[in-house]
Amino acid sequence: ANMGVKICCIGAGYVGGPTMAMIALKCPDIEVNVVDISKPRIAAWNSDELPIYEPGLDEVVKQCRGKNLFFSTEVERLVAEADIVFVSVNTPTKTSGLGAGKAADLTYWESAARMIADVSKSDKIVVEKSTVPVKTAEAIEKILTHNNKGINFQILSNPEFLAEGTAIEDLQKPDRVLIGGRETPEGQKAVAALKAVYAHWVPEENILTTNLWSAELSKLAANAFLAQRISSINAMSALCEATGADVSEVAYAVGKDSRIGPKFLNASVGFGGSCFQKDILNLVYICECNGLMEVANYWKQVVQINDYQKTRFVRRVVSSMFNTVSGKKVAILGFAFKKDTGDTRETPAIDVCHGLLGDKALLSIYDPQVTEDQIKRDLSMNKFDWDHPQHLQLQNPTSLTQQVSVVVDAYEATKGAHGICVITEWDEFKNLDYQKIYDNMVKPAFIFDGRNVLNMEELRKIGFITYSIGKPLDPWVKDLPAAAN
Ligand code: NAD
Ligand code: UDX
Repeated sequence: ANMGVKICCIGAGYVGGPTMAMIALKCPDIEVNVVDISKPRIAAWNSDELPIYEPGLDEVVKQCRGKNLFFSTEVERLVAEADIVFVSVNTPTKTSGLGAGKAADLTYWESAARMIADVSKSDKIVVEKSTVPVKTAEAIEKILTHNNKGINFQILSNPEFLAEGTAIEDLQKPDRVLIGGRETPEGQKAVAALKAVYAHWVPEENILTTNLWSAELSKLAANAFLAQRISSINAMSALCEATGADVSEVAYAVGKDSRIGPKFLNASVGFGGSCFQKDILNLVYICECNGLMEVANYWKQVVQINDYQKTRFVRRVVSSMFNTVSGKKVAILGFAFKKDTGDTRETPAIDVCHGLLGDKALLSIYDPQVTEDQIKRDLSMNKFDWDHPQHLQLQNPTSLTQQVSVVVDAYEATKGAHGICVITEWDEFKNLDYQKIYDNMVKPAFIFDGRNVLNMEELRKIGFITYSIGKPLDPWVKDLPAAAN
């Protein structure tokens, strides 16, 4: 039924690239074009070095590229030729104007929609792949039909649930695919057409169809629930440290309840990534706009606990190291927001580094997938301001070059250091030669595990003073000053 269907996806990013590659792989009868206004990004998709690091992605792209998968900057022509247009452009948090610091910035989305309206000569299904505020489809419909050329546009919401680092796995075997559409005959026909694409590899019972608003809101709700689990366990981790409970044991015991479940309960230095904070803030803003202040404040706490957790980690480091890290070398192992990705958007590493730099530490940073350029750019940018206090602001950006060095391996990062902070749970950090690392550090040597991935018993045997999130404290690790908030 799909013979000859042509798909075009606007936005060749972390979502557009992998998602379309999977559709091309699973649907040899469909031609898939991925277009972007960024020339370097498209050039990279067409090269041997893809613009994003994602396990398994290279193989999928190699199999389909040039056959039924194409990357191009010819946005207008390929949109005009398509039957189904996915829009997977970025929807960041607004940094100025109404709703700054919370609302989603739909500038990219709107310009894509206007372009679709302008170049279309045939009926199209327009699919919201980006995460958008609930009710966006209504606005998009208005933009698409504004110059009323007699073309029928059907708008669908098809949010993406993949997580970075496991994108290919997630796309291959999604827990569910969600499609929302208008409850009219034309709307339902469009839903069926998109369903037929996914049905090439996703079992029918895993393809959920809803109305437009449910699909849009479900995406925001899912991310809010996931982030809430992390903030819940992170909040517990603080109490564990105060009482001698062990957060891993608590998480295990709690997660054994089949109603709660064991996943996504790892205490950490804080969640990062381009989605959780942005989508919760967006949800908060929508609640506020609807006059639901109690609901808004409830979800805002998830972000506030996350900020608290990052601040708390920095305070532990500074207070343990005799209340000063000034002039001391501190190794930062891992900068990406999670393992198996080179993405640094909203990574907790940025806030932790800012905190330590504010206390005049000398940072030596190593991440297997993040470039020096990226790290320096991230550290020189100021975080957007919203209505919560900024504890972790960089005091003096010009000192960046003197205070920060980015190195090529963990041994160099830790050489001559007073302390080590593990910020990303890269597998390679578990198997380092910690005796060798210890021998080359200033004593007493501290190690702060922000991901609970290291074998602390072994490290203590070597002589390290250790701190892990939510675990009984090493007597050497100093309590937080009572006055600190
Ligand atoms: P991204 O920044 O990696 O990619 C977006 C791309 O869109 C960029 O390459 C940009 O150049 C391009 N673009 C912007 N405006 C354009 C236009 N008018 N025409 C053509 N190209 C244009 O973003 P991403 O991480 O892929 O996220 C995209 C959307 O998907 C966001 O709404 C995000 O919330 C959502 N999402 C992301 C993830 C994730 O893991 N990153 C997961 C689920 C959903
Ligand atoms: C998330 C959602 O999982 C995904 O469904 C959505 O489509 C996009 O946003 P992503 O941000 O790529 O995906 O990664 P995720 O695995 O959710 O991790 C987000 C952050 O939470 C990372 O910083 C991770 O380290 C942290 N995390 C995750 C924890 O601190 N503890 C956990 O138990 C799980």
